[in-house]
Amino acid sequence: MTKITWLGHASWLIETDNHKILLDPFLTDNPSATKQVDDFQDCTHLLISHGHFDHIADAPAIVSQSDATVIGIFEITQWFSEKHGATKTVGMNIGGEVHLPFGSVKMTPALHSNSLPDGSPSGLAAGFLLTIQDQRIYFACDTAFFGDMAYYASSVDVAVLPIGDLFTMGIQDSVDAIKFIKPKKVLPTHYNTWPPIEVDPDLWAQRVREDTAAEPVVLSVNESIQLS
Ligand code: NI
Ligand code: MN
Repeated sequence: MTKITWLGHASWLIETDNHKILLDPFLTDNPSATKQVDDFQDCTHLLISHGHFDHIADAPAIVSQSDATVIGIFEITQWFSEKHGATKTVGMNIGGEVHLPFGSVKMTPALHSNSLPDGSPSGLAAGFLLTIQDQRIYFACDTAFFGDMAYYASSVDVAVLPIGDLFTMGIQDSVDAIKFIKPKKVLPTHYNTWPPIEVDPDLWAQRVREDTAAEPVVLSVNESIQLS
């Protein structure tokens, strides 16, 4: 059983029978999140797409409170080991795949900037393709639309795409991305946290239904979908 829960903004929890994987934890200063750092002391893995505050703000605290392995681009995992005492890290780079106890993680390209809060080298922004049991789950993370999504994430079971515009794809580009990727299910992320990225997820879902064969799934904060 694999369960995916939206924690608000671009933060996600992926649970398997034995693992709790947090993607881009941003909780404390996240106006849409209700969970807190303390709720994730049993986190086993942290996936970090890039170093912007709305993806990384609570990650150092979670690393120090849990036994979690940090997975990210090499520069970012180095920052966690050198500046935040992370003892378990998996540094990787775009196009690489690693096999971990819960499944495999492939680092995919993202068309986005990157930086770390203290100005340390941050490498490139990235996305993740997870394969857990027989399910393929694509987290595009912060990105513009790019045609190579069709190569990396073709026909995935679940695609999680940003729709909030301004910093990432908006509704139109995300619908175009869905046409390229052809996922079975698609979930929106990175929207409505603050006024500049306000969009109507029901309008997005309607567009997805009209223009693509994918099933849109709009979750509320802390709501989950279960994969077989
Ligand atoms: Ni960003
Ligand atoms: Mn962001």
